[in-house]
This record gives sequence, structure tokens and C-alpha cells, in this order.
Amino acid sequence: MSKKPFIHVTRKLPDAVTRRLLAAYEASLNEGDRLQTPEEILAGAAGADALLVTPTDKITAELIEALPASVKMIATFSVGYEHIHIEAAKKRGLPVSNTPDVLTDATADIALLLLLGAARRAHEGERAVREATWRSWSTGYMLGVQVTGKRLGVFGMGRIGQAVAKRARAFDMAIHYSDRHRLSPELERGATFHADPDDLLPHCDFLSIHAPGGPETRHWLNAARIARLPDNAVVVNTARGTLVDDAALIAALRSGKLFAAGLDVYEGEPHIDPAYRELHNVFLLPHLGSATIETRDAMGFRALDNLDAFFAGRPLPDRVV
Ligand code: DGY
Repeated sequence: MSKKPFIHVTRKLPDAVTRRLLAAYEASLNEGDRLQTPEEILAGAAGADALLVTPTDKITAELIEALPASVKMIATFSVGYEHIHIEAAKKRGLPVSNTPDVLTDATADIALLLLLGAARRAHEGERAVREATWRSWSTGYMLGVQVTGKRLGVFGMGRIGQAVAKRARAFDMAIHYSDRHRLSPELERGATFHADPDDLLPHCDFLSIHAPGGPETRHWLNAARIARLPDNAVVVNTARGTLVDDAALIAALRSGKLFAAGLDVYEGEPHIDPAYRELHNVFLLPHLGSATIETRDAMGFRALDNLDAFFAGRPLPDRVV
């Protein structure tokens, strides 16, 4: 019987994924789920045939260059792959795969949760009930902004952006979007395309961010762009924290330029700008976009599908490089 390939896995996997992994591979697992340092990842990679990593692992150019020759592939348990230095992987001829599609619905659901929660002050209301500061119903108590019938701007109309637009249509929202490419009429479904994202902004009563992270989009939502949003707009980010200039967003939430924000992702997470904690008008979640039992299993299985394809000599279903 030929030897099973050896996979170094950097974080704890869902149980069902671990079971499938161990049926086909030898593996070094991280059952304690402690974040591994680059040195620990390198130590785990010694003799490994592939790495199974997550967005919390910074797979830098230096780390890729230092990987032993035995490592022939990197699979990430995520759709985003900006934590992997793609150019370095390319240079080394190291295929990288991700897990698209399977987290689209869960992430779009969280975007809607944030949109509704930020607009209707769900986090503040919940706290008032829990902390017994709620005194009485009154005509002006904890007023939010209406969602139904408003305009939603989607920055980045890929799978997740489209799934958010689909949900927003159930709230009679008018959809505007910007992306590098205009969608076909079937996918656009009546949404208004803005080739220049700056032209999208004045149409956004709600702005939901769905573009990839990385240097090209770093601090895309800055003070100048926030100024182009209508007053009282609501900003939602479920993509990557790096897309938002925190200082600019915090200033706009403080000044009342923006009504609220709903954030699931943060630059430097889990260490967020502490000013967010002081603001009442921001609904904060800890990167839960894909955090459902079903989705996390599906992400793991998708990562394994790619490893299986690689070791069977088939094309990777989700090759990003
Ligand atoms: C991803 O897959 O990139 C997500 O951010 C994980 O939730």
C-alpha cells in the first residue's frame, strides 16, 4: 500500500472534516487550536506534503521561501487568500486552493443581520433589555432608520455581493453596485451598475462591502469616500477589515455623518480599534460570516476536495494560483 500524503494542519478542524482527513492522509493536527507562529508552521511543515491553513495564518513570502521542498501545495480553509503571499507561491510553483461558494449564503446572512441590526439598533436594544435600563415604550425611544424600500449599494458584486442583493430585494431595496466588471442582465437582475465605485457612493443609503482584501483595496472606505455617502447612511463590512480606514469610519460615526455601521471584520483583528467599543452606533460581531456548523463543515470538505484532487493528479477545483 502506498504511503498516505502527510498534511500539516494549522488550526483545529470541524470533527467531521478531521475524520475525513484522517481517512485519506497522515496529519499533524492542532487540537488545542492555539495560533501557530511562523516558526511553528515551518516546524510542522517538515516532511509534510501539503499545508492546510486558515486566514489567521500569515503565509508570508519569507515563510513560503523557507518551506521544505516536500511541501507541494497549500489549501486554505477560507475563500479569502490575502493571508497567503500569492506571488511567492507562484514563484515557487506551489498551487494554492481556497473554498469559494460554500460560504456565500452564511456570509450574506450575516451581512443582512448586520444591516438590519445596525439600522434598527438591535445591539442597543438587546443591551437595554439585558441590563434593565429599558423603562417604557415611547414614541421616540431608540429610533432606527427604515430598511424597506431604501437603496443598497454593493461594493464587489461577486457571489456574496449577489447573495446579499438577492436578500435585500425581499426588503424592496433598490440595488446599486460597483465591480471591476458589469454583470450579465440575468445576474444583474435590474441592479444599477456604477463603473466607478465613487459614483456608487451617493446612491447608498446602505453600503455593503464585498471586495477582496489585500494591498489594492486597503482603506478603500476612507474619509473622502465616506463624505460621498448620503447623510445618515449605514455601512456594513463582512469582507475584510483592511478595506476600511477605521479612523475615518469612527470619526463619521462620532460626528453623526453616518447613522450606524455593522462590522464583522477588522483590520488587525481580533485587536480592534478600541474606539469602536465606545460607540453606541456600531454593531460589532467577531468575524462570524461563515460561522455555521454546516458551512464550516462544507469549507473543510472543500479544502479536502482540493487536496484529494492534487494528490490524485487531477486539476484543483478551486485553484487560485
Ligand atoms: C473567508 O473564508 O475568507 C472568511 O473570511 C472566513 O469566514
